[in-house]
Amino acid sequence: MLNGKRILLIISGGIAAYKSLDLIRRLKERGANVRCVLTAGGAQFVTPLSVAALSEEAVYQDLFSLKDESEMGHIRLSREADLLVIAPASADLMAKMAAGLADDLASTLLLATDKPVLFAPAMNTRMWEHPATQRNVRTLLDDGLTAIGPGQGDLACGEVGAGRMSEPLEIVAACENLLGGEMPLRGRRAIVTSGPTYEAIDPVRYLANRSSGKQGHAIAGALASLGAEVVLVAGPNNLADPGGVTVRDIESAAQMLAACEASLPADIAVCAAAVADWRVAGEAEQKMKKDGSGQPPALALVENPDILKTLSQLNGNRPSLVVGFAAETEKVVDHAKSKRQRKGCDWMVANDVGAGTGVMGGDENTVHLITAQGIEDWPTMAKDAVAAALAKRIADHFGSE
Ligand code: C5P
Repeated sequence: MLNGKRILLIISGGIAAYKSLDLIRRLKERGANVRCVLTAGGAQFVTPLSVAALSEEAVYQDLFSLKDESEMGHIRLSREADLLVIAPASADLMAKMAAGLADDLASTLLLATDKPVLFAPAMNTRMWEHPATQRNVRTLLDDGLTAIGPGQGDLACGEVGAGRMSEPLEIVAACENLLGGEMPLRGRRAIVTSGPTYEAIDPVRYLANRSSGKQGHAIAGALASLGAEVVLVAGPNNLADPGGVTVRDIESAAQMLAACEASLPADIAVCAAAVADWRVAGEAEQKMKKDGSGQPPALALVENPDILKTLSQLNGNRPSLVVGFAAETEKVVDHAKSKRQRKGCDWMVANDVGAGTGVMGGDENTVHLITAQGIEDWPTMAKDAVAAALAKRIADHFGSE
């Protein structure tokens, strides 16, 4: 798909720039012609010599270079590409692009281009989560650019969180999608639930669980990157909103169900949230007080609506593919199989969340996909990779309809 395609790779400043050297190789292996632009920051992390040697092309760095401008003007540089890729995309370069600044070669090319642009953010997690960066990313997405990543995990700065540049092969796949026009879920609507729910006891206290929302958020992002129009109904979490997704923040199970119902119709529903099974009957209007008797108050619980079951059993506007998650600590597949039947969903993704697996809150997951046709055991993968594989599986399902 990339054979003969011309890719202009802009490498901006960030430790992830070392992965861009591998990206050049991966793109060239697939027959692409890769021309590179290094920003001043990018050149602090990788040398023009390595970039030139791997790309087998001249490297462009300077907006006001008489030599470069006479041989290859900056407008031509951007117009002669089929696709512009920014990897890593630094917070600074994204801010410049969002503001329409053109004060160096990379930002000028990006303003002058009439070609699709893919950007792979990479930075410290606080920089990524900063409202200014999030605002800039939304602006770039609204301007029609495509984002890939960032992923979660250990960052070079020693912190853990969102900010890792997507892996070279993931970026290659995104290039193939953009250039091949392969958006197999374009025109499909998806609802994804993610995170825990909070069930109020009184105005200051609540019942909750340890779900981080990482898996659900990653699934929402993966479906969007295949072209689906995604509504992510998210319980309280500390994650950045995935790119290109409409997020509805809720707290309780009842609010989650209402937000899902308000997002119908949909072709796909993926219920990855860890919904609280019970809520407190008769939430107190005022903060509950100790009454001096030494007796704790009796908290009566009532069952919450089952969102997965409700969506699976809708009449008329049932999503044509409903996927549930079964987090189990024993007899993982057996329990998930009966859960699939009981809830009436089409697929069940079963995972072992027993003590010691580190799945709850962790970055990896080992899952089994249970469908009417049988059981697939997937290898242990990063949650992002599970999300990408599930999204691909969903796309294949609709492709074979
Ligand atoms: O019954 P259990 O909670 O183990 O089922 C897990 C699946 O059901 C998950 O997909 C979860 O999102 C969904 N679920 C739901 N509403 C509930 C409880 C679970 O959507 N009230």
